[in-house]
Amino acid sequence: MPVQKINKLKKEKNAVILAHCYQNLEVDEVADYVGDSLYLSRMAAETDADIIVFAGVFFMAQTAKILSPNKKVLLPRLESGCLMADMVNPAQLREFKAKHPGLPVVCYVNSTAGVKSECDICCTSSNAVKIVKSLNAKEVLFLPDTYLGKYVESQLDGVNVITYPGFCPTHLRIRPEDVISARKKHPGALVLAHPECHKAVADLADYVGSTTGIMDFAAKSSAKTFIIATEKGVADRLQRDFGSRHCEPAEVNPLAKQSSHSKEFILIKEDIVCPNMKWHTLDDIYNSLEFEQHEITVDEDIAAKALGSIERMMEVS
Ligand code: 13P
Ligand code: SF4
Repeated sequence: MPVQKINKLKKEKNAVILAHCYQNLEVDEVADYVGDSLYLSRMAAETDADIIVFAGVFFMAQTAKILSPNKKVLLPRLESGCLMADMVNPAQLREFKAKHPGLPVVCYVNSTAGVKSECDICCTSSNAVKIVKSLNAKEVLFLPDTYLGKYVESQLDGVNVITYPGFCPTHLRIRPEDVISARKKHPGALVLAHPECHKAVADLADYVGSTTGIMDFAAKSSAKTFIIATEKGVADRLQRDFGSRHCEPAEVNPLAKQSSHSKEFILIKEDIVCPNMKWHTLDDIYNSLEFEQHEITVDEDIAAKALGSIERMMEVS
């Protein structure tokens, strides 16, 4: 009975569980907040719990610790890193900056605390365009995700976004030919894609947006069938909450009120899974709370500088 045991421990220890939308669906049974990285950062900053259990990847737990330094932040499985975040370290960032001196540096939250501490401002996929626009610069450096950076550039007139060559291996598995064949199989379906995808995929999509952007778009749309070009967890949650097989009552998910309750969500192909997001099971979450493992700590100086980049993002968002 991990659900009841977890809920009991949460009360006893004044803990909250934050879960990213890419988690296995079972995690939602114990999560207090489920959402994208921006929403979860906000919840981490606002909560008055003593313990935050982060069912997400390492950089998300690190961000929670930076935002709430006096709370204990736990990551149920330490293996859950983000491959994109690990593609750039502070030394590589310095080299990148040295090649383009004097330009503002925007860093996607999918990065380590050390990298955040040497950037000017952070962004997430839901606010990246707004953040870059807010800089009023003709040229900016953007890292680690080259695809998100180039997507931002395509949305802004006259801004040159110089990108670091990082990428998300999960989103890059989606190829333009997958979009074309999914459209053939499901005529009339809308294609919803994450900006971490190849440009050619984004160009073929009907909507490009963050995890939450995709979920809101699908909830509010009057279309009936959607091809989901992002991580499987998004398609699973949409199907659970708005799909024809089972509908979440409106009291549980307020967005369900805006839905016709007869939609179909098709993951563009079955292997669009971020393996690192899927580590945490209910047993791991229980053990994390019971034994208060694995605690995430961040060097104080690095945390203070990284906090500046995150707070500047929060002010603009
Ligand atoms: P969101 O910012 O949309 O939550 O995405 C995080 C992520 O890791 C996408 O791959
Ligand atoms: Fe990182 Fe990609 Fe996984 Fe997102 S989906 S956590 S960017 S590896």
